[in-house]
Amino acid sequence: MPSISQLFFKTAVIWLLIGLAVGLQMGMSGNHTVIAAHAHINLLGWVTSSIFGGYYALNPAKANKRLAMVHYALYMLGLVVMLPALYFMERGMSQLEPVVGIGSLITFAGVLVFAVVIFSRESVPLHQASRA
Ligand code: HEM
Ligand code: HEM
Repeated sequence: MPSISQLFFKTAVIWLLIGLAVGLQMGMSGNHTVIAAHAHINLLGWVTSSIFGGYYALNPAKANKRLAMVHYALYMLGLVVMLPALYFMERGMSQLEPVVGIGSLITFAGVLVFAVVIFSRESVPLHQASRA
């Protein structure tokens, strides 16, 4: 598996552990106010990141591009800014709303880079090109 896929899955499983912990906290306390943080930690952090990791594993020619690393870095930066701020915003710190907004925009930028990766021409990796 390409290293970018490993990186996406390693980061995704950390988000899953955090997302499940927040879910368990909600379930055990009976207080469901952090529902959007829980949903987005699991869906943006675990599910979507794993899909990115799977995409690069299925398209290794795209995985070696620098753009893939830019995608990873921007997307994860967005989540690190957005998701903790969303959690604490839902716990009452309403002043964090702009931070959630900024994090969402960075996340969106990361996904835009992924769209460029998807639509870009597939380049043949060097070791395959030399065999052809
Ligand atoms: C230990 C595992 C989990 C626990 C204990 C848990 C617990 C909860 C609880 C208590 C709620 C609030 C329900 C409500 O108030 O209606 C909730 C909502 C939600 N959970 Fe989880 N959850 C878990 C795992 C997951 C996973 C793995 C995902 C996604 C991959 C997920 C996605 C969601 C979503 C999207 C909602 C919001 C549903 C809605 O809008 O009605 N959860 N979860
Ligand atoms: C930058 C990315 C995203 C932003 C800014 C965003 C924003 C939002 C907002 C504002 C809500 C309404 C929350 C509420 O009523 O309390 C919401 C709900 C929801 N979103 Fe997203 N979303 C994003 C990405 C996603 C993705 C990628 C998924 C699924 C893969 C998703 C799944 C959901 C679900 C299931 C709900 C309903 C659960 C809830 O009540 O929190 N979102 N989202």
